[in-house]
Amino acid sequence: MEEHLTVGRVAELADVTVRTLHHYDEVGLVQPSARTAGGYRAYSAQDVERLREVLAYRRLGFGLREIARLVDDPAGDAVARLRRLRGLLAEQRDRAAAMVTAIDRELQARAMGIRTTPEEQLMMVGAQLYEVIGSDYPATRRTEPRIAAQVWSALGDARTVLNVGAGTGSYEPVDREVTAVEPSAVMRAQRPADAAPCVAASAERLPFADQSFDAAMAFSTIHHWQDPIAGLREMRRVARRVVVFTHDSSEAGWLNRFWLSRDYLPEVGELIVGRPSVNELAEAIGARIEPVLIPWDCADGFFEAYWRRPEAYLEEHVRRAVSVWTRVGPQAERRAVEQLRDDLTSGRWAERNPELADLDAAELGLRLLVA
Ligand SMILES: C[S@@+](CC[C@H](N)C(=O)[O-])C[C@H]1O[C@@H](n2cnc3c(N)ncnc32)[C@H](O)[C@@H]1O
Repeated sequence: MEEHLTVGRVAELADVTVRTLHHYDEVGLVQPSARTAGGYRAYSAQDVERLREVLAYRRLGFGLREIARLVDDPAGDAVARLRRLRGLLAEQRDRAAAMVTAIDRELQARAMGIRTTPEEQLMMVGAQLYEVIGSDYPATRRTEPRIAAQVWSALGDARTVLNVGAGTGSYEPVDREVTAVEPSAVMRAQRPADAAPCVAASAERLPFADQSFDAAMAFSTIHHWQDPIAGLREMRRVARRVVVFTHDSSEAGWLNRFWLSRDYLPEVGELIVGRPSVNELAEAIGARIEPVLIPWDCADGFFEAYWRRPEAYLEEHVRRAVSVWTRVGPQAERRAVEQLRDDLTSGRWAERNPELADLDAAELGLRLLVA
């Protein structure tokens, strides 16, 4: 017979009161499927799975009615549900990290006698990650023409193009009719005056009818999406062709391939736990996968861009334009930068990476998905 946990044991393990569990039972949220001989509620493994989901949403601050809707959602299996939960938790973590960064900046500003404006204060509490780091973005993030050429060639003869997670519009082709989608107000505000029109929306829910565009593109953004597979399917729904620039987040493909994450910032590994693999992403939209090499003098300052120019990572403005550095937290960032500085001074970095000096372009796991 299947093992059951008594209500008392469940309450103890999950650190909630028995009264809470009774209430969930009474409102139909988690109804234990059995009773002990003594008449006490008893929870099966399946009941526990549902309860765990309910409690996690509760800790995320969802109301009981909203939770009921989420846990009764017939779409998606256990893995999809865990991914959704994970996405929400990771977003909360990122939001907290971004708020810590914003508070640090405010403290620095106060120390210099500068007061933040009411607008800045409000933006911090409503902040998405890019609402806080967004204003540092244009310092080093711009179009890399060789990578842009690969993306534009993959767009084929598409005349109308949707750019999802468009940011400041770095990779928008100028010779086609582009519509941009960008959820962050800070990023939208930094789009050049002559940039394509931009809609405030998220990839997971694109406000367009089926097949409205010849092509949809997403550049260096899907790792920020709450549910990348849902976002890709949305792109597929609204466009006949889909082109996505992303990275192969496997250890062998990316994490251990780049000296920065391998030798100095292994915390990057924690940021990608549970994310769909590049093959899963490609499968979701039936895409083929093309490698994208990074030129040694890459003009766009994304995380891997300075693989042959390691001194760049010592620069605060270079790091501030890449969300990874904010997401790993200030302690890991400080440690990695100090270690790299020491290794560059002592010559240890060059000893460890002799093969890079003569390389003009590197294969660091960046990929184009074309469907
Ligand atoms: C690294 S930036 C890339 C911006 C631009 N594609 C580029 O290459 O310059 C990532 C962007 O994804 C956006 N983003 C985050 N979550 C998103 C979501 N769920 N749907 C669409 N865009 C999102 C961020 O606001 C940010 O502008």
